[in-house]
Amino acid sequence: MSAAFRIEALSASHNRAVFDCGVDALDRYFKEQAAQDVRRRIATCFAAVEIATGTIAGYYTLAATGVALDSLAPVLAKKLPRYPVVPSALIGRLAITSTAQRQGLGAALLADAIARIIASDIGIFAILVDAKNEQAKTFYKHHGFEALPEHPMRLCLPAATAMKFIK
Ligand SMILES: CC(C)(COP(=O)(O)OP(=O)(O)OC[C@H]1O[C@@H](n2cnc3c(N)ncnc32)[C@H](O)[C@@H]1OP(=O)(O)O)[C@@H](O)C(=O)NCCC(=O)NCCS
Repeated sequence: MSAAFRIEALSASHNRAVFDCGVDALDRYFKEQAAQDVRRRIATCFAAVEIATGTIAGYYTLAATGVALDSLAPVLAKKLPRYPVVPSALIGRLAITSTAQRQGLGAALLADAIARIIASDIGIFAILVDAKNEQAKTFYKHHGFEALPEHPMRLCLPAATAMKFIK
């Protein structure tokens, strides 16, 4: 990402009204729901703001979640204690406005999300994402995420592996 953007927590000063990433559900969530979820501590939300114009070029959300031990790939599950649920972080939504796509901003927001997850003082084994479509799935697989064996659109990256991505 160029220095043209800064990433900051979503606040009332951001203009969310014109955000358009081409996926209606992600646009609507950002315009109508994100601020409320932040207020209720359901999720945190971070926005990439173009410094020159103040325009929001992308956003992502973070929340705590858990993943069933038996839904992980056996190669991961076998290394873990037999607790039924594995502590995880969810990047619930990630979207870049149409005019800023394919310029590295999605990767920059993903790295920022991973850095925040790893910097938190909570035990988190896995980072999970829900891909909204095949394009998004390709993007996440490109960054090392793998689909859960029985949930093809939910992808997982062990936090320990993610640390290498942000270095
Ligand atoms: C998917 C999305 C977040 C990717 O962000 P982006 O800024 O366009 O992607 P980037 O430019 O950061 O791409 C990073 C890498 O992923 C690859 N990539 C991005 N989109 C890709 C796609 N559709 N297919 C294949 N590779 C892709 C790029 O080639 C790039 O590779 P490189 O690091 O080797 O150069 C963005 O396009 C988007 O918001 N799309 C619409 C909404 C959406 O589907 N969001 C996902 C919700 S789950």
